Amino acid sequence: MHVFKEKEALKSYLSSYHDKNLPVGFAPTMGALHNGHLSLVEESKKHNAVTVVSIFVNPTQFDNQEDLSKYPKTLESDLALLQKSNCDVVFVPEVTEMYNSDISSKHFDFEGLEKQMEGSFRKGHFDGVGTVVKLLFEIVKPTHAYFGEKDFQQLQVIKKLVKLEGLQVNIVGCPIYRESNGLAMSSRNQRLSPEEKQEAGFIYTILNQAKINYPKKTILELNNWVKEQFKNHPLLKLEYFTIADEETLNPIANKKESNKPRAFIAAYCNTVRLIDNLSLHSQI
Ligand code: PAF
Repeated sequence: MHVFKEKEALKSYLSSYHDKNLPVGFAPTMGALHNGHLSLVEESKKHNAVTVVSIFVNPTQFDNQEDLSKYPKTLESDLALLQKSNCDVVFVPEVTEMYNSDISSKHFDFEGLEKQMEGSFRKGHFDGVGTVVKLLFEIVKPTHAYFGEKDFQQLQVIKKLVKLEGLQVNIVGCPIYRESNGLAMSSRNQRLSPEEKQEAGFIYTILNQAKINYPKKTILELNNWVKEQFKNHPLLKLEYFTIADEETLNPIANKKESNKPRAFIAAYCNTVRLIDNLSLHSQI
């Protein structure tokens, strides 16, 4: 496994694949890797001649300094996991290598996808994501790039980025990986105590109940029901629960507004912010 810190060295290594038109798979991450990330590597390895993973905690997508400074950093174990997964290349740049001296994001118009949910609670978040993903794509020039569906809104935003900027890369969404209690795997879970991790399974339980009740209740009833469940929870604080159309991400007030509804949720478990989502129309 080759580990690069400098973009020019990485570009030069990957040029032998690009020159021969061989497919390059890429999974951008912020490290603190878990099985969800490793599933992206596994998927990439099936379809590409070389698989690249980047580990970079991108400062421009955080609107909260504490969230950024507390983001788990576990480089040594990340590299060991990637090595075990037969990942070919890892890119671990410093902030200055990515941004030079201008650590700021470009402004994007993602045609409304960036406005709801994560976008409304994390100011400038998707500008930061769009900026770094575009920079990374320019360096790696991947044929396929893999993103987890846990960040479903991010996945839709990146698909839009690729379209708007005319980038030549296929964006592949991969299923959410869950703990045995249903908690969506996330790097942030490393900040939870074993007890908090157990309690946080409640988020998925609620999503599942919402899916079961979807045919029987109105959207308003479902929204109120979810709020009520969190009111009584000793550890978890609901930030938002939204039923939105999967493509436009516009929240719906009436079931007729979408034939692809998906439930989205963000909640705090003490100080750790967790997100999850579940399709309300598919079998899984
Ligand atoms: O999902 C993430 O880990 C990050 O948002 C990403 C896509 C690596 C950009 O920093």
